Amino acid sequence: MAVEWSGLTPEIMLQLDRGIRGTLGIQLQAALRTAIRSGRLRAGERLPSSRKLAADLGLSRGLVQGSYEQLAAEGYLTATAGGATRVALTLRQSTTARPPAGAAVDTVIDFSPGRPDLNSFPARDWLWAYGEAIRAASRRDIGYGEPAGSPRLREVLASYAQRVRAASAGSADVVVCNGFTQGVGLTLRVLREQGTTTVAVEDPGHGEMTMQVRGAGLRPVPVPVDAHGVVVDALRATAATAVILTPAHQTPTGVVLAPERRQELLRWADERDGLMIEDDYDSEFRYDRRPVGALQGLAPDRVVMIGTVSKSLGPTLRLGWILAPRRLAPAIAEEKHRNDWGTNGLDQLALARLVESGRYDAHLRRMRRAYAAKRIALTEALRQHAPHLRLTGLDAGFHAVATLPEGVDEAALVAAAARRAVRLHGMRRYRVHGTSGPPAVVLGFGDLSAYAIRSGIARVADLLQPRPD
Ligand SMILES: Cc1ncc(COP(=O)(O)O)c(C=O)c1O
Repeated sequence: MAVEWSGLTPEIMLQLDRGIRGTLGIQLQAALRTAIRSGRLRAGERLPSSRKLAADLGLSRGLVQGSYEQLAAEGYLTATAGGATRVALTLRQSTTARPPAGAAVDTVIDFSPGRPDLNSFPARDWLWAYGEAIRAASRRDIGYGEPAGSPRLREVLASYAQRVRAASAGSADVVVCNGFTQGVGLTLRVLREQGTTTVAVEDPGHGEMTMQVRGAGLRPVPVPVDAHGVVVDALRATAATAVILTPAHQTPTGVVLAPERRQELLRWADERDGLMIEDDYDSEFRYDRRPVGALQGLAPDRVVMIGTVSKSLGPTLRLGWILAPRRLAPAIAEEKHRNDWGTNGLDQLALARLVESGRYDAHLRRMRRAYAAKRIALTEALRQHAPHLRLTGLDAGFHAVATLPEGVDEAALVAAAARRAVRLHGMRRYRVHGTSGPPAVVLGFGDLSAYAIRSGIARVADLLQPRPD
């Protein structure tokens, strides 16, 4: 995947990622907005002609003209009588963003895990689906809907989960929620009402799970994760009767829950009359053509599976779904009712249209290719600059873990990288109660271009080297 940079002025660079087709205009507009807002392009500054910029970037002139027109309509740019396009004089810009003369680094490269490619939000498809939803909406669709969610979306989600995740559910088992975060909160509160006291969380794990469990009035207990996933013997040694897991791509280690561990977990659940809460947050993105089905499909009566569009479309939508055992679904829907009377109905209908139309699958196919290319950029950059690092967790999703050479101080490395405008995320913050483990960094690459990935690794390459004895 080629990444292209173009000199716009001696001080400004525009970065476009050609691997993602159909979004170059959106990328160009976003890059220009960022440059203007940050002050890298100053009020009154003249932009190159659309012909020149198009030639520099290898884009069509119409696409550049269209982007200029869009930004003019938004008030960022003005077209002057002589035909030149300039940054609008009325804009308020950051006064601190201009780097000191000679500074080589001006943009922060953030390897934050869990962030999808925000430039690739399928805006056109979403607009289309939303338009369809509004056009087809009945009077009833505009009123208060069923707290469990739109019957149509629940039908679509149940069949999607069967088709893509090998899950086993009917629409009566589905409760639509506002993303995974709300889904897990609703589930935990219902469990507490029904007598659960202790819930296991993965260690290392998603930092907010402990808070979620406590927030529901339950006691969290950490259970270690090894190269095969959660350690079931350790789970058995706790008093937990429920466990929250990320089987498809563990957060943060990236390991996929091994088949024998899945079987062991099912045995644990039977012995304990326990429940597994399956966080299915980024399962859409696997790279080796060996899709791993959901745990839910193996034991629908023992698993609450929670899906979300936060990684597949964008976190802003706050849309997710709970597939619950039949004995729990009504209580979860009731909790949803108490909580907010239901998720935005038009959003639900739009998501149903998006999935039914095949546009959702097409978007996922495009994104899988885009993330696969970014993943290659990361592995190649590390191979070039730090071949001794062990990189794991790359089978799925868009984060991986680089285990650091022994003796490297993880916190000091993260701080030193930050001084070079590279945000690395140390493994320590994912460890529950500060349990120990080898120094490592979690490298998210979803929202970075291949160029940024390579630049970021190059900027910190010397910090990643083994320390001389
Ligand atoms: C492992 C994991 N689960 C769940 C979520 C949250 O999902 P949502 O935005 O649907 O609440 C995140 C967000 O980053 C995550 O990393």
